[in-house]
Amino acid sequence: MKLFATNAFLLQRAKEEGYAVGAFNANNMEIIQAIIETAEEEKAPVILQASQGAIQYAGVDYIAAMVKVAAERATVPVSLHLDHGTDFEQNVKCIRAGFSSVMFDGSKLPLPENITIARKVCDVAHIVGVSVEGELGQIPKSGENVTREQLEKLMANPQETEEFVKKTGVDSLAIAVGNVHGMKTREAQIDVPRIKKIQKLTNIPLVLHGASGIPDESVKQAIKAGICKINIDTEIRKAFVRGIGIILKENPNEIDPRKILGKAKTEMKEAVREKIRLFGCNNKA
Ligand code: 13P
Repeated sequence: MKLFATNAFLLQRAKEEGYAVGAFNANNMEIIQAIIETAEEEKAPVILQASQGAIQYAGVDYIAAMVKVAAERATVPVSLHLDHGTDFEQNVKCIRAGFSSVMFDGSKLPLPENITIARKVCDVAHIVGVSVEGELGQIPKSGENVTREQLEKLMANPQETEEFVKKTGVDSLAIAVGNVHGMKTREAQIDVPRIKKIQKLTNIPLVLHGASGIPDESVKQAIKAGICKINIDTEIRKAFVRGIGIILKENPNEIDPRKILGKAKTEMKEAVREKIRLFGCNNKA
């Protein structure tokens, strides 16, 4: 097994065969193990991604090293991806740390600036075979109380996506289509026709962030419309806390972290399994 597969490689096959690869946020050893063990059991290619919060919490080197150990032993393709990279410098640092895929999130910048920096990241990343994800439209966070009207204004503009992809050379594109980061209930309303339109104009693998808050039926429709990578973080967090709650309720005197985190891992594995099957990437390794 090649140490890390690139997102470009994993997503191209997903696009051809009509499924999506799960991209799960990795924050510590138990989460990484839960994701990779489940991917192996389900024979699914998998993307582990480090968010800005994870980088602050654990450090880029720690995350890269832990995922490398896990990927070396894995029997399925594993990609290590930077989630919402803030700037050119951070993207380059992650490439140096061994990431196989990076993201430049310039979605809050004016379009020309987003294009310029994403182009620069692609120029460097592609030389060393690393894939790049860009982002257009703005994906709000749960709790920001954005109205439906505001959400629609924040969605990716299809014409701009076409221009962005042509001018930057990104390998995949995250789009705001009604999705919201960090939702604890599945209530987001996704603009599926917009995904179809963007897919037609760009013809590259599209990425859906904030997918914990999207109803299963909409996830399936989004995949049919062209989504090839789906990001999940909140569902894993919920499972982690649920596991700890169960064990401490069963045994309030438990002080062995391995038993407490072990139960969290069991719950996280089931959350990851549910998503892998929903995305149709099981048996695609
Ligand atoms: P959720 O936390 O809503 O699952 O979103 C994860 C995500 O999009 C990471 O980029």
